Amino acid sequence: MNKDVARILVSEDEIIRRSIELGKQISEDYKDKKAPILVALLKGSVPFLAELMKHIELDIEYDFMDVSSYEGTESIGDIRILKDLDRSIRGENVLLVEDIVDTGRTLKTVKKLMKDKGASDVKIVSLLDKPDRRVVDIQAEYVGFIIPNEFVIGYGLDFNQKYRNLPYVGVLKEECYK
Ligand code: IMP
Repeated sequence: MNKDVARILVSEDEIIRRSIELGKQISEDYKDKKAPILVALLKGSVPFLAELMKHIELDIEYDFMDVSSYEGTESIGDIRILKDLDRSIRGENVLLVEDIVDTGRTLKTVKKLMKDKGASDVKIVSLLDKPDRRVVDIQAEYVGFIIPNEFVIGYGLDFNQKYRNLPYVGVLKEECYK
């Protein structure tokens, strides 16, 4: 275990098992619909996207978006697009792939952006959900694990861009950020 991890919250095995379940559920839910375009938000969702999509038995495509919130302003919820989609999503079913829903601001804004781009339907799949932290009204249709209000790292999640490569989700030791 990495020396900066206080404890493992979700193991690699648990993530794989849950991704299989979510993949099956998504395959079932979309089987009579147009296959979704998976839109993954960089960078945190990459390991989860890679695991999840192996278990989706549909002719999906995937694309990436990179957004950041405007820092140092009061305009919370507004986002800056660092990398936009490569293709049009007009008339498509979009499935947003995220690492964690925290305050919910990012997903609420990105979901609206997808609708503004003409997506006919937008759903969300997130590896983790921290419902205690929510400040806006948004709910992922597919959630891997509901976790307590603690700062987590690994499986794509970072602290100062580090720890994304850990194969599990762990709680960062307080001494690392205090
Ligand atoms: P939201 O807009 O507040 O829901 O923020 C979502 C983003 O915040 C996620 O995509 C993560 O990049 C980041 N984030 C939220 N909680 C954590 C955490 O516990 N560890 C690492 N990143 C987090």
